[in-house]
Amino acid sequence: MSSRCDQTVAWGGLRGHWEAHGRDLDLRTLFAQDPGRFERWAIEAPHVFADLSRARWDVATGQHLLSLARECQLEARRDALLSGQPINHTEDRAVLHTALRAPKGQGPQSYAVHAVLDALLAYVEQVRATAGGTEPGCITDVVNIGIGGSDLGPQMVVQALDAWVHPKLRVHFISNVDGHDLAPLLRTLRPQHTLFIVASKTFTTQETMANAHAARQWFLDQGGTDIARHFVATTTNVEAARAFGISTTFGFWDWVGGRFSLWSAIGLPIALALGAKHFKALLAGAHAMDTHFAQAPLERNLPVWLGLMDLWNRNFHGHSSHCIAPYHQGLRRFPAFLQQLVMESNGKRVDAQGLPLPYATSDVVWGEAGTNGQHAFFQMLHQGTDVVPVEFVLVRRTAHRDEATWSPELRSLMARQHQALLANGLAQAQALMWGKTAQEAARETVPTASKVMAPDVLAQHRTFPGNRPSITLMLEQLTPEALGALVALYEHRTFVTGALWGINSFDQWGVELGKAMCKDLLPRLESGDTRGLDAATAGLLQRLKG
Ligand code: F6P
Repeated sequence: MSSRCDQTVAWGGLRGHWEAHGRDLDLRTLFAQDPGRFERWAIEAPHVFADLSRARWDVATGQHLLSLARECQLEARRDALLSGQPINHTEDRAVLHTALRAPKGQGPQSYAVHAVLDALLAYVEQVRATAGGTEPGCITDVVNIGIGGSDLGPQMVVQALDAWVHPKLRVHFISNVDGHDLAPLLRTLRPQHTLFIVASKTFTTQETMANAHAARQWFLDQGGTDIARHFVATTTNVEAARAFGISTTFGFWDWVGGRFSLWSAIGLPIALALGAKHFKALLAGAHAMDTHFAQAPLERNLPVWLGLMDLWNRNFHGHSSHCIAPYHQGLRRFPAFLQQLVMESNGKRVDAQGLPLPYATSDVVWGEAGTNGQHAFFQMLHQGTDVVPVEFVLVRRTAHRDEATWSPELRSLMARQHQALLANGLAQAQALMWGKTAQEAARETVPTASKVMAPDVLAQHRTFPGNRPSITLMLEQLTPEALGALVALYEHRTFVTGALWGINSFDQWGVELGKAMCKDLLPRLESGDTRGLDAATAGLLQRLKG
């Protein structure tokens, strides 16, 4: 089995198709030629409906891509992932985040997983039972101290599921080594009512340990007395947590990658916020997507199609980024979460044998919740010189936390706001695809337009090229189940893309060099020693010192 997709027969077919007409595919023509295009490119997966009809591909592209998937033995690679083979070959590790959400008794590692899950959920229910109480030890504020995968996933989920959060618990996330993250929060906390979670797979990460030490010092300074009760750890390094003075720890395993870890003990802040029932629902939603990924034929397998689209967009259309536009304010950290998931996983430059790849891998993932993004960067998406595919996430029904207490008038105003949100999302996808010709622009009367500029020149400024690709993912409601499925969908898609490219999506050596250099520079900031440093680093260090 070749690990290089460009060495397959199918790649040659795809290249021929690209050169013959793939590069010229025009969305408006494709829709005009095929009235069934929407249905053809609609895929139902658990909790997620996907409209892929506005990707710039056609039926022939799809056939070539499926051949590529088969020739790259995608199904065998998927099965190796799901069965716990050590596919993270640079670290000799299995990759088993799917085991974290499998029902008891199913799949690898079930006993270990459910032993921790049961203990964690029992602890969660105990904390929640007295949450908001006035007695010392009753918790009002949970502070998760972690970074990267020990922060982004839990933070994103707690924000997204605001409607399900315990009304008497505030859950905070502190990640940055910059004390401007922790300091303002400390002003609002009371030690006897605060629970700190030190979340770190390794329990050695500089930022997390710095914040954990500062939090512990603050706790003691404020007269806090029971560290064992007010600090817990979620980690694979239980000894280090004990050495820090934490006796309550929830463990996980080296086969859980940081960016795939929100389903493990790292999900403790989620479970505290939502409670056992809803945390289990999150896991169940993810498991439903795992089952779809494992069992649906390639032709109807949503993560597979999204991975194939990534390859088509990156290696053939040459798109260097894609934009995530969730039309739900609760999903405002979803783009940040996906940045780590996708770019830390697939930002790799060598194949399994360590040989440089001749094709591009991870693009840049970025984005912002709609409609805010429309008033910031959508100008560039519509009229800029780069084409950036957009992924719209629309949620059909709202889940407002305080709905029950609203007057009928307020309820109706909020319902109208939701319709406006959805209409905006639909409109942006439509505008990207259709664009506006110079003739159409010239026919319009626009009060704010220049009265002195020649009308045909003005029309050029007001022209939209169109034919700009997007996809739309739709959820019925942003419930714990649906969010679990959505996140698992993106996890599997990231795996598929990496598997097609023949890279290891599960290591992250690229973060090591900067960490090591930081270790060297930290004491130099005190001492001012610039020996052996390049001129730029030395010059800057001297200006920063003291
Ligand atoms: O940024 C590198 C990284 O190792 C991520 O992969 C990880 O999620 C993050 O640091 C935090 O690591 P830890 O959970 O060990 O503190």
